[in-house]
Amino acid sequence: MGKLENKVALVTGAATGIGRATAIALAKEGAKVMVTDINEKEGLETVNRIEKDGGKAKFLHLDVSKKEQVDAVVMEIFTTEGSLDLAVNNAGIGGVPNALHEVKFENWEKMMNINLTGVFLCLQAEIKCMLQKGGGRIVNVASLAGLNGMPGGSSYSAAKHGVIGLTKSVAVEYGKLNIRTNAVCPGFIQTPILDGVPQSMLDNSTNTRVPMKRIGQPEEVAKAIVWLLSEDSTYVNGHPLLIDGGFMA
Ligand SMILES: NC(=O)c1ccc[n+]([C@@H]2O[C@H](COP(=O)([O-])OP(=O)(O)OC[C@H]3O[C@@H](n4cnc5c(N)ncnc54)[C@H](O)[C@@H]3O)[C@@H](O)[C@H]2O)c1
Repeated sequence: MGKLENKVALVTGAATGIGRATAIALAKEGAKVMVTDINEKEGLETVNRIEKDGGKAKFLHLDVSKKEQVDAVVMEIFTTEGSLDLAVNNAGIGGVPNALHEVKFENWEKMMNINLTGVFLCLQAEIKCMLQKGGGRIVNVASLAGLNGMPGGSSYSAAKHGVIGLTKSVAVEYGKLNIRTNAVCPGFIQTPILDGVPQSMLDNSTNTRVPMKRIGQPEEVAKAIVWLLSEDSTYVNGHPLLIDGGFMA
């Protein structure tokens, strides 16, 4: 018997990386997983992997930066599945590294639309469903950059600080209504989002700043998300959980 039997879970950005690993981990614990992403090919591959393991999953195309899509897809899940118990707001982009005075306005806007407004829109739609069923659990995927500044990553850092602000606000607004909301703050995790980051920068950060001297794996983040969504963390609410190999320490 899994820890999340009979729960309906939504994961955004579940085609690759942390989202895929989370979708797979949730399904292993018995949840029926709504795999959403803009990348249909890899999203369907996530569903295939879950089904091969005997789990339950469905792919739905969802661009988190588009309000009409978010509202329609979340409502479709709620009406066809009869519930939305768990949500992981994970979709995000890494953006173009640049000093702040050289950031192109359209890149700032794109970052905010996906990494911050996307989380806001999903939270609104998810909470409306959860309130109708008497509660739910949510994890937002923030970042170490949501707690620190990031050279060349001011837009990303600002968006992720915003995600932590949203997480804490939702936790204090809806805690009494049986909706528990937390965030995870991963350090460097081996996923496609790092493809654009120079290897020398990654090696330097890992060697000088990470006491464990290695990069993290998406499955290590997924395990923490499962814990935050399970009955093993019933008094954890509004917490930005670091998963960084000790970087912040
Ligand atoms: N990998 C890391 O080092 C790291 C560290 C801290 C935080 N994060 C965060 O983890 C989350 C997942 O990233 P990842 O590392 O797994 O990278 P990833 O690139 O593998 O996954 C991101 C997913 O989001 C999807 N996506 C992008 N724009 C979207 C949109 N508009 N709507 C819906 N889906 C969209 C992509 O298609 C992709 O499947 C992101 O929010 C990222 O900021 C990653």
